[in-house]
Amino acid sequence: MDKIQINGGRKLYGEVSISGAKNAALPLIASAILVNGKTRFTNVPDLMDIKSIKLLLEDLGATCQSSQGVLEIDGAHIHKIEAEYDLVRKMRASILVLGPLVARFGHAKVSMPGGCAIGARPVNMHLSGLEALGAEITMDHGYIEAKASRLIGNEIYFDTPTVTGTENLMMAASLAKGTSVLRNAAREPEIVALADALNNMGARISGAGTAIITVEGVQNLSSSEIAVIPDRIETGTFMVAAAATGGDVLIKDCEPEHLGSIISKLKAAGAEILTYPDSIRVMGKDPIHSVDIKTVPYPGFPTDMQAQFMALMTIADGNSVIHESIFENRFIHANELLRLGADISISSGNLAMVRGVKKLQGAPVMASDLRASASLVIAGLVAEGTTVISRVYHMDRGYEFIEKNSHNWTPISFESKKIPDMR
Ligand code: EPU
Repeated sequence: MDKIQINGGRKLYGEVSISGAKNAALPLIASAILVNGKTRFTNVPDLMDIKSIKLLLEDLGATCQSSQGVLEIDGAHIHKIEAEYDLVRKMRASILVLGPLVARFGHAKVSMPGGCAIGARPVNMHLSGLEALGAEITMDHGYIEAKASRLIGNEIYFDTPTVTGTENLMMAASLAKGTSVLRNAAREPEIVALADALNNMGARISGAGTAIITVEGVQNLSSSEIAVIPDRIETGTFMVAAAATGGDVLIKDCEPEHLGSIISKLKAAGAEILTYPDSIRVMGKDPIHSVDIKTVPYPGFPTDMQAQFMALMTIADGNSVIHESIFENRFIHANELLRLGADISISSGNLAMVRGVKKLQGAPVMASDLRASASLVIAGLVAEGTTVISRVYHMDRGYEFIEKNSHNWTPISFESKKIPDMR
């Protein structure tokens, strides 16, 4: 198991390019199941989660060929409708194959995703949505089974906006008979990207990016070429890293339009930010001002940036309140930040009070999930001395960068390297 060692206490300077978005690529790859032919994706990030969903599609019988960010999937020979436990347990987003499988083949069996480090993460709204489209849903021996000779368009209301739920239902409704209306839908850029891709394949979807999405079902979808949008969470992570270290970083190949909440909060924290059509320059300033945040669905502040922002607030000039309203257990990184000298107290499970300290000190820490890993990297960059982060396999699920990209920076101004765990 690899570890990352960071010799911190230095400012970050340089340029970095952003990869395709993990959370956009996953539903796009699942959407290839809807097509009886080839779908070609470009700007696909090289990540563990992408390998996991590719393996899952291959297990179903799809052919996947990938090279240098291009992934071609041929769904013509899919012959299996069952997503097995061993493949699903590695990645909860595997639930994204449920909608496409039942829509195209009338039958799907997907292992029930379990809870994970950040909370229980139920899929009840995915299932009630499919039921509204006429699927018969049963649960048996840890598997969800969905059956419908053909899905029928209907009204679907989400109690709370769900990202993968909206994606699953948008994909399923694309091949349903008649029109579906998804109300209180998620509005994330990844939803818009999926709707655009499905429309490219011949679907008829309008309203993506708003809370009401209308899907007029079609008989079939056809081959298409789709570019994955830039990763807004990777972008935000670099922005916070630049601000936290007082550096000056140009983040290229990103989409500033998707970063509104992060830009506002970083400006409030005192950072200077310049935006260009596809890049953002962040100049960190001393002192960093304390800012409160509350995580909410897009366009609000993303839960996937909460841990990184908490790392920034540990060295702010006052107290900040962080309210995590999406997941019930997403403060595990706080205990590790304490090991670096941060002053954080958690009350009532979803509120954290961060009292800014003058400096952090390097220490061994352990990553608990993907975004927690990123927060520890940021804290390690800020801390004086050496920080060793273990369990960094979490980070490989969602970041191509950290120790790799840092070598391309000009000038390289922090040292981080992966070291093999000798235990
Ligand atoms: N929820 C339900 N029932 C459902 C579905 C969701 O109660 O059927 C609840 C969840 O428990 C949560 C809220 O609804 O409280 C929103 O969860 P959502 O369904 O939107 O989360 P998700 O689709 O499982 C995606 C991202 C996550 C990101 C969340 C929130 C992907 C593959 N994953 O998860 O990304 O945190 O939306 O924005 O898109 C990450 O990349 O590190 C990550 C965890």
